[in-house]
Amino acid sequence: MNVLVTGGAGYIGSVTTELLLDAGHRVTIFDNLGRGHREAVDPRATFIEGDLCDRDAIFTALHDMRPDAVMHFAAFALVGESMEHPQMYFQNNVVGALNLADAMIAAGTPKIVFSSTCATYGQPDVVPITEQEKQLPQNPYGESKLMFEKMLDWYRQIHGIQPVFLRYFNACGATARYGEDHDPETHLIPLVLRVALGQGPAIKIFGDDYDTPDGTCIRDYIHIVDLAAAHICALEKDVVGSFNLGTGQGHSVLEVIAACRRITGHPIPAEVVARRPGDPARLIASPEKAASVLGWRAQHADIAVIVESAWRWHQEHPQGYHA
Ligand code: UFG
Repeated sequence: MNVLVTGGAGYIGSVTTELLLDAGHRVTIFDNLGRGHREAVDPRATFIEGDLCDRDAIFTALHDMRPDAVMHFAAFALVGESMEHPQMYFQNNVVGALNLADAMIAAGTPKIVFSSTCATYGQPDVVPITEQEKQLPQNPYGESKLMFEKMLDWYRQIHGIQPVFLRYFNACGATARYGEDHDPETHLIPLVLRVALGQGPAIKIFGDDYDTPDGTCIRDYIHIVDLAAAHICALEKDVVGSFNLGTGQGHSVLEVIAACRRITGHPIPAEVVARRPGDPARLIASPEKAASVLGWRAQHADIAVIVESAWRWHQEHPQGYHA
């Protein structure tokens, strides 16, 4: 298929592009390189440097390439930043995304696979989280993603487009070529591995007094290759609707740090500090709907396998892409 990937120079977009190309699809990447990296653009893809907030640019791109489908990754994705600068999130993640949806209608593009998030659920009542859980985001980031889900659902009803919402849990790991390089970095695994690389004195543990077995927060860490594979299932299957993408297993912050110590052989000092505001104690996906409808299950759910892949990438890119 002929696929337009927005945000294809970013972390999840670059790996999904790699898998799409490996599977024989044609890919055009549309990315403003604001947070993505030119080095993460797969050389086999066509690259358009453009911003979704530039309505003419995205209309022209879709008009010219007439894709069979869009995969939409381009967005801001930091919870803390969204609490300080909500406007940025509504502008980029909602207004920019609306331009994309309108350009799809104008070009007759039928399908969109959208990067959504478990942050749309807020503090869930029930764990593991199913797609039926109420969506009550606790921050502008989650709200901006939910707003675009709702807009796309109306466009489905009115214009007949086919949206698939993939609600990611904690994306992590790397392929041999592409990995995680955020600025600023806020995610647990890359920050722990920076300590192992000698780039920081200790990892800060944000609270050890949660209602969990070891007191630290539990998350569902999902390998980036598994996430990318789910996008290809969503693209190739005739489906619409929402799917939680996780392994169904949770790991605490202490368990992740222990796995990193085993794999790196570094003692990785850790210090417990105050809780980070807004962190739910436990977020674990129910992957059952994705299994039954998409035919997808995480194949690399072992946290050691995930950390090993990230560690390889960070050792080869100790300063990220701009080494
Ligand atoms: N953590 C630490 N120390 C750190 C960084 C993180 O203890 O230096 C802890 C966090 O408190 C959390 C866990 O490690 O308990 C994972 O934190 P991340 O920042 O790696 O990931 P989050 O679970 O906060 O974020 C993820 C996605 C977001 C999404 C969010 C929903 O990355 O996009 O889940 O809550 F919005």
